[in-house]
Amino acid sequence: MAILEHRYGGRNRGGIQPCRARRLETAGSRASEAPNGRRINHVLSQEILGSFGKKYDLTYQLDFLKIIDSLHPLKGLRVMEIGGSNLPRALVLDELGAKQWICVDDLKNFVLDTPTKTRVMNDAMRDHYNTTATFTDDDTNEEILSNDYAIIDSDICHLDIFDHFDAVVSIAAFEHISKFGGLLDRTYNALRSDGHLISLFQPIWSCVNGHHLGGAKDKAGHEYDFGSGIVPHWGHLLMTPPQMRCDLLTKTDADCADDIVSKVYNSPSINRLFFEDYVDYVNASRFRIKKITPLGQRVVPEQVQAALEAAHPGRTCFDANTILIQALK
Ligand SMILES: C[S@@+](CC[C@H](N)C(=O)[O-])C[C@H]1O[C@@H](n2cnc3c(N)ncnc32)[C@H](O)[C@@H]1O
Repeated sequence: MAILEHRYGGRNRGGIQPCRARRLETAGSRASEAPNGRRINHVLSQEILGSFGKKYDLTYQLDFLKIIDSLHPLKGLRVMEIGGSNLPRALVLDELGAKQWICVDDLKNFVLDTPTKTRVMNDAMRDHYNTTATFTDDDTNEEILSNDYAIIDSDICHLDIFDHFDAVVSIAAFEHISKFGGLLDRTYNALRSDGHLISLFQPIWSCVNGHHLGGAKDKAGHEYDFGSGIVPHWGHLLMTPPQMRCDLLTKTDADCADDIVSKVYNSPSINRLFFEDYVDYVNASRFRIKKITPLGQRVVPEQVQAALEAAHPGRTCFDANTILIQALK
């Protein structure tokens, strides 16, 4: 299952292997092996996902959702989604069976590293946003939580909801959120006792293309993102900005090289946390059970591993591009 393809509708991500969710199709039923090896039957069939994918231009989001639902079925639950608001209500309420779905997505403030800097959406997705009740953190919790489906357009670190949700889920967002301790605190507060957090996200800063480059375009019209390979593997962790610029000048024009260097080292859209930072943040959180699973591993050549460890003392995990966080309040 190619879950690591098509971020923002981009190219594939350089052949990096996704987490180990495998499809085991059997006559008359569909089942998969989740990353924890558990065999599960899906509420969401390929047909349903295919039709939502086509209608709303959703790709990896649906694969991630399916994995999350396989790990912790969301049917009948009050769910908060962090860093996402593009899974339509007909999918999460009618098909998945969630009782409530409240999205917390910092739509207004998040800086998109895409060519247009705006969220590209088709008519169906535009209609989804136009018809969904949308709130800010100035609105009361009572008003927000009286909806079965709503968007809170806000930084998760401004959220003040306590003991309400049965599950908090997140898809491809945690690598963008800088105030990671605050994110875990607010999530913990929002969950009821025994509520679950499940988050799947990539590419993290410490992996081969964790710079998350997006939206760079040169004078010849070539576009570059974190799947295009213009930044050398692990180059963002091994090069200084001037070194990277020199390297890029052998591949593209000076303005584009400057843009790429600036985005790689300074874009506010990613948090630049290493794998070990996520582990430390989660371990320091109040969750009573916490599990971090590194996924999407790629072989790091021995010499590169040695150079990475020398450049970043105390860090050793540079192979995993994806993290699965599971935690219980
Ligand atoms: C890569 S997009 C993923 C969106 C969606 N989950 C998907 O996969 O299509 C990252 C999302 O994180 C959201 N985000 C970033 N920082 C946030 C924050 N502090 N609080 C809430 N949402 C945030 C952005 O608004 C953006 O929608």
